[in-house]
Amino acid sequence: MTQGSLISFDAETQSFHLHNDEISYVPGIEDGGVLAHLYFGRRIKKYHGQLKSPRIDRGFSGNLPGSFDRTFSLDAILREYSYEGDGDFRSPALVIRQADGSRSTFFKFQDYSISDGKPGLTGLPATYVLDNSEAQTLTINLVDDVSDLTLAMNYTIYRNRPVVTRSVKIINYGQQTVNIEKIASMMIDLPAGEKDVISLPGGHLNERNINREPITFGTKTFQSRRGTTSHHMNNFIAITNRDTDEFQGEALGLSLAYSGNHKEEVSKDPYGSYRISVGINDDQFDWEIASQDSFQAPEVIMTYSHAGLNGMSHALHDLLQQRMVRSKYKNSPRPILVNNWEATFMDFDEARLLPIVDEAKALGIEMFVLDDGWFGHRDDDMTSLGDWQVLDKKFPQGLQHFADYIHERDLKFGIWLEPEMISIDSKLYQNHPEYMLRVPNRIAIPSRNQYVLDIGRPEVRENIHGQIKALLDTTDIDYVKWDMNRSLADIYANDLSDERQGEVMHRYVLGLYQLLEDLTTEYPDILWEGCSGGGGRIDAGFMYYMPQSWASDNADAVARMKIQYGTSLGYPTSSFTSHVSETPNQQTGRDTSLQTRGAVAMSSVFGNELDLTQMTPVEKQAVKAQVDQYKDIRQLVQYGRYSRLIDPNKGNRGAWMFVSDDKNEALVFSFKLLSDGQPENEILKLVDLDPNKTYENVVSGDEFGGDELMNAGIYEPNVFEDFSAIIYHFKAK
Ligand code: DGJ
Repeated sequence: MTQGSLISFDAETQSFHLHNDEISYVPGIEDGGVLAHLYFGRRIKKYHGQLKSPRIDRGFSGNLPGSFDRTFSLDAILREYSYEGDGDFRSPALVIRQADGSRSTFFKFQDYSISDGKPGLTGLPATYVLDNSEAQTLTINLVDDVSDLTLAMNYTIYRNRPVVTRSVKIINYGQQTVNIEKIASMMIDLPAGEKDVISLPGGHLNERNINREPITFGTKTFQSRRGTTSHHMNNFIAITNRDTDEFQGEALGLSLAYSGNHKEEVSKDPYGSYRISVGINDDQFDWEIASQDSFQAPEVIMTYSHAGLNGMSHALHDLLQQRMVRSKYKNSPRPILVNNWEATFMDFDEARLLPIVDEAKALGIEMFVLDDGWFGHRDDDMTSLGDWQVLDKKFPQGLQHFADYIHERDLKFGIWLEPEMISIDSKLYQNHPEYMLRVPNRIAIPSRNQYVLDIGRPEVRENIHGQIKALLDTTDIDYVKWDMNRSLADIYANDLSDERQGEVMHRYVLGLYQLLEDLTTEYPDILWEGCSGGGGRIDAGFMYYMPQSWASDNADAVARMKIQYGTSLGYPTSSFTSHVSETPNQQTGRDTSLQTRGAVAMSSVFGNELDLTQMTPVEKQAVKAQVDQYKDIRQLVQYGRYSRLIDPNKGNRGAWMFVSDDKNEALVFSFKLLSDGQPENEILKLVDLDPNKTYENVVSGDEFGGDELMNAGIYEPNVFEDFSAIIYHFKAK
């Protein structure tokens, strides 16, 4: 593609055209200065203006203020954004409470600007460019004359990606203070047709199930009200045509770069159009903007694919991996770790851990991670959160002594922290009970016997920042697992007036981002891993600070293959971690082979939670073989192109594969859940290969054409056991 402009404005059709080789996105200015949605999809050369909304008299739909043209109703056209009280009775994207208590606004087009590159969002995570030629940004300013509010609608289109990002900012140029009651980061109305929505609901130990349903009349809401992204509903959704599958058809992926309360609304209106909006949840949200002040809403990433859900995921994976992650580990091999959590829980001391370190070294593992229980006087989950000093009883010679032991064996040393939390039984609570989120005169709600720090307050952040800094400055630590093990309740901040308590949850997220920004900038050599009781905070925004996150506390191979399949819809395999743990599994009681547990764990960033000291020599040999195998395939798994082949949620089999950029290497992971007496002769077809290359199965030596593997496929061998796994490794000759 040439380095030409990616955004143009056509004065004749009053439309903007954001385009690259793959996609076109067309917002336009309709009657009354209303910003309308005209088109988003496959690249068109030019928009000629024919998609201006049809003029039809729609009963009970209002018309433009002061206009008696009954054929133009905001209620019935496709829009880019909508406001309470503007005559559009569908769910609004923006609700502002004016100083007089009214909630009406009417934002009209004022002007626009186009710039090269992509500006960052102050205090918020956002995708970025390395070079200004990579993208262009359109800002359309809309104004509500009465209140003198400006709404800046920002659109960035990347040159070489089927991606548009959107965000909005409100600037109060008026004299009065106003309050935002709702602000979506993105809204879009799509034309009639049969559409589905895919969401990723779940729970602790059961994250990111794939939930697909038709969008029917009425409004459906997906949301988190828990203060964090949550296990219960991820902030990613996809909108597809009814016939879209993994390999073909249109899919629109929407990912909110935000780690707090979120809301995704989808609805079908009386005229068959669809309204989709994504943003901060308006529930418990009320944000004051004084005169001359502004509010920036988080970013939404929009990807368009006409090559099915895999096409959508490829675009998201690459964007998040290359232009959201900033860590120095962004493209480097992530170390294979052993974590002591499932092996010892909090029942350990240095003497108990040293043999695990020795075994890890012998098996080729590259990092030891010390999990929960090393600090304060923590032997159980009743105590010590907030006191980030080593527990002498467990490490009598100090933490650095343990770190030295690990480093002397040429392993890296990682440590677990849960910085946003406080235990009542802690020095921090004794000294600063006011640091805790708590509603006055009410008994606070415990969860896992712990409470939440009001990280939105600067002095709370400073305290935690100081403690973590003291730890990192006095101990050689290569990796931090940043955990967060409860949802936010007791929403009240001591440093805010009564009228501003609706700001607490967003301030919490902004405070967290500030803390993460400070620490990850001060300690860039540390590999930071996110965690929230497993995968409760996997979202695009968190990746800005931490390149990887623990996918789930459920490491059962069968449950985990489904969790990882769902997670892959919106997130690259380099961004979530997966470990082999003991069998029968602690969460499900299911027995699965080491081979199958290994195959699932080796499908993303690989590690181990086994008690390596309790294994037989044969088991150790098998673990070592997996570690060696992962080193061999690590680059391809972490940075190759991942495609889903068979959904394990839908039947007895599951499969996915990775292909290198040059298409010279491919890895296929295939799983069968229950064994059959008379199995079908099952054929597995691959994707994404070079049809003209010849590939060799590196184990069997069999040769296949790329076209053959994709079109004819291969017979799956019949394995006489439940929960079996096969890894095929192909190399081009
Ligand atoms: C939840 C995490 O997901 C686990 O891996 C472990 O770190 C525990 N917290 C420790 O409390």
